[in-house]
Amino acid sequence: MPSQTIIIDCDPGIDDAVALLLALASPDELDLLAVTAVCGNVSLDLTERNARRVLALAARPEVPVYPGAGRPIMIAHHGATVHGDDGLGGVPLPEPASAPQQRGAVDYLLETLAGRPGEISLCCLGPLSNPGLATVQRPEILRSTRQVVLMGGAAGRGNVTPHAEFNFHVDPHAAQLVLRSGAEVVMLGLDVTRQAPITEARLRQLAAVETAAARAAHDMLAFYGQGDTALHDPCVIAYLLRPQLFSGRRCWVDVETLDEERFGQSRVQPVSPYGQRQANALVIDRVDADGLFELLCERLARLP
Ligand code: RIB
Ligand code: CA
Repeated sequence: MPSQTIIIDCDPGIDDAVALLLALASPDELDLLAVTAVCGNVSLDLTERNARRVLALAARPEVPVYPGAGRPIMIAHHGATVHGDDGLGGVPLPEPASAPQQRGAVDYLLETLAGRPGEISLCCLGPLSNPGLATVQRPEILRSTRQVVLMGGAAGRGNVTPHAEFNFHVDPHAAQLVLRSGAEVVMLGLDVTRQAPITEARLRQLAAVETAAARAAHDMLAFYGQGDTALHDPCVIAYLLRPQLFSGRRCWVDVETLDEERFGQSRVQPVSPYGQRQANALVIDRVDADGLFELLCERLARLP
């Protein structure tokens, strides 16, 4: 019986795809109920289709994929080039072996989270538009999660502007809604993901794993590493599987949505018992990167 029940909200995207493979390779620990797709790295029609291609690669076409927000809540969408035009670096993953769900991701999240209070860990790998929209409809809904574990933000430098990380920059209003939702938030920002660079040695480690999934992950990360050398999204899944690889501290986190220069910046302040502000997130700031890559290679070896 898997110890954790999860939903993965993502914008595949190469590192999202590798994170999905890591989760799909761990069925004894993670019961993946569904994938919800969001516009982010590339458009929603691509992120949704790419999620179904990854499921086909892992021979798990039964996992439903629900299409979500086709744009950020308040502002126009700006994608990323680092994942290539198709969002997967042009690596020839299989065609989808399943159809997309007709139902929207937000409706699915609202019903599923409300129906299983305290059970589900919502893993967010892209802009937070889907959970953000869910809180617009039902402000308390994210308190029904066991936790929201998200890749996003940065206490230090950003990667889209000097101040803002991509997922928070694409939809800062959604990020603010999630951080203010009252949910148990675990934030894995650039401060920790940048400690896991995709080095040549680690690519060679991956190349030695003789499964189609590992080969695809290697080829996608080799493409991705030309532009952004950090293994961002898989950190979220690795945190669920091996929390001992990570450490962090409770902080107060909010997102800049007014100042033009700092738009999308996450403001992170450690809190003390005597501080003015209550912590609203566990901000992860350390990872054992070698342990992370060993886990990734070991799990990709289990896939077809
Ligand atoms: O800043 C890194 C994040 O932005 C990752 O989730 C990557 O997939 C992109 O969405
Ligand atoms: Ca992502």
